[in-house]
Amino acid sequence: MVPRGITIQEFAPRLNRTSADLVRILFDAGEMVTGTQSLVDEMIELIAEHLGAEVLLVEPGQEAERELQELFLEDDDDEDAVLPPRAPIVTVMGHVDHGKTTLLDRIRSANVVAGEAGGITQHIGAYQAFYGDTPITFIDTPGHEAFTAMRKRGALATDVAVLVVAGDDGVMPQTIEAIAHARAAEVPIVVAITKIDRPDADPMRVKQQLVEQGLVPEEWGGDTVVNEVAAMEGLGVDELLESILLVAELYDPPLGADPDAPARAFVLESNLDQGRGPVVTALIERGTLRVGDPIVAGGGWGKVRAMFNHKGESVKEAGPSTPVEVLGLDAVPLAGDELRVAPSDKVARTVAEARARRRRASNMTHPTILAGGARLEDIFAMVERGETATLNLVLKADVQGSLEALTDALRKLDQEHEEVRLSFVHRAVGGISESDINLAAVSNASVIGFNVRPDRKARALAEHEKVEMRLYEVIYQILDDVNKALLGLLKPEFEEVVTGDAEVREIFSVPRIGKIAGCFVRNGVITRGSQVRFLREGTIIWKGSIASLRRFKEDAREVRDGFECGIGLENFQDLKPGDIIETFELKEIARTS
Ligand code: GTP
Ligand code: MG
Repeated sequence: MVPRGITIQEFAPRLNRTSADLVRILFDAGEMVTGTQSLVDEMIELIAEHLGAEVLLVEPGQEAERELQELFLEDDDDEDAVLPPRAPIVTVMGHVDHGKTTLLDRIRSANVVAGEAGGITQHIGAYQAFYGDTPITFIDTPGHEAFTAMRKRGALATDVAVLVVAGDDGVMPQTIEAIAHARAAEVPIVVAITKIDRPDADPMRVKQQLVEQGLVPEEWGGDTVVNEVAAMEGLGVDELLESILLVAELYDPPLGADPDAPARAFVLESNLDQGRGPVVTALIERGTLRVGDPIVAGGGWGKVRAMFNHKGESVKEAGPSTPVEVLGLDAVPLAGDELRVAPSDKVARTVAEARARRRRASNMTHPTILAGGARLEDIFAMVERGETATLNLVLKADVQGSLEALTDALRKLDQEHEEVRLSFVHRAVGGISESDINLAAVSNASVIGFNVRPDRKARALAEHEKVEMRLYEVIYQILDDVNKALLGLLKPEFEEVVTGDAEVREIFSVPRIGKIAGCFVRNGVITRGSQVRFLREGTIIWKGSIASLRRFKEDAREVRDGFECGIGLENFQDLKPGDIIETFELKEIARTS
């Protein structure tokens, strides 16, 4: 197994040859290649053929993935097994201020002893409540990040989505967004119309708006369960819990998990705590996690040092569908990462290291397109191969009118081209948000903005997730580009322009802040907040942004070449002298047509 883009230096030892041997083989074939240059597939094959070796070309990272699978091999779920029931996992979503937290508070307070009610600190954004004897796990998501992040990694950590819509406000942009997210994840939706105690609440109007979104209430002959609640008074809350359980019971096979399997969990939230190290809120998917277990999550590993339940109480073990706070990892995983128990410390460590390598490798390669969707840029290749390509789109526009016009025009285009199917993952009015990018990332969609811009975070996320984003001010140009994409004539919208680089000379540890790189600016200008590629021996090992920039203890906005400065990177601490911090900007390419 050989990863694509391997260098001669890396390839030679695998063949028991020296780099010089390989350089010579290629030289004889008329190719001049240096030891550190990435080889194209043909060269790898040529070398292998010459030496009579068999190679299987794989995507970088796939190798580590296989190692990992092998390590966890005997650990797969038995599909036929009848599993003991587990609590349904419910995510509450909806527009800002529509009463999500109030509703959740109400559900929870009904479940705690009166004397405790005021004193409970909610440590984690997830907890378990009971309806009668039946447990239900709730995930309290501010925004849809955790929800989408998990799906992005292929994890379906939600069984039911509760869509909260305020009775006095109705369906709003984030309501529509929440619907799109739940649909993309194929999670059943239970609607809760809240605040019906308010004099201006109009549940009828809300239901009509829901119908416009394709959610037809049961009472009107549809299949969407709609509940009306007044959380403050506790009105309708029991009925809501009942409907959640009813919807959860529709799952076939029924929701279940083996508490005796090796534990597997999803990271809901994570952060680096000054005193306690990496702290992870995890939701146990199956098995039972115990204090002392060797675990691996994202690029981190360790032994479970302590666990706390949603009330902040220390617990020794946690079973399926239970949310817990876990301490003991050596690095902070990301929301949505999988947390698993490993057979031994050694395996945990090997896997974590393999993953760290894989992340580095995947930073450098072009994203592979998963089945079911393509980007504008790739669509032509698919058409050429004779495949029916689906182009998934997230459309954002300034006003409803232009959104409709654009949609209609694209639909028409769709009918004209048989070989391509356009599919709208999400259409909405407003600027491009992180949530749009996340949605595009999980559904392999391109984002098209008409008279709207991404905010800074969305732009950064798009870059990080390698989501294609195209911004327009003329509808005709959008149609033109989609047409061009079909003909293979499309050019990328952005190009990266390097703005400066600095060499790491010394590393300082600053209390409460972390590691700061003492740097010398070699070229250009280093600007606070700019995007960064972190290079070690010419290899990109991290991408992110500059969090702090200082000259002589003073905050600086920018530092020019020839000067020294201190650079703090966002969430990146693995600094070594000799590393290079390269900053870049994304420049939009002027459109010629
Ligand atoms: P974000 O987390 O900011 O998105 O808001 P949220 O959806 O969690 O809303 P939250 O529960 O904070 O409620 C917003 C406001 O609506 C608060 O002032 C609540 O007191 C009020 N509210 C929530 N539910 C009800 C209700 O059933 N009746 C009435 N009258 N007010 C409510
Ligand atoms: Mg809230």
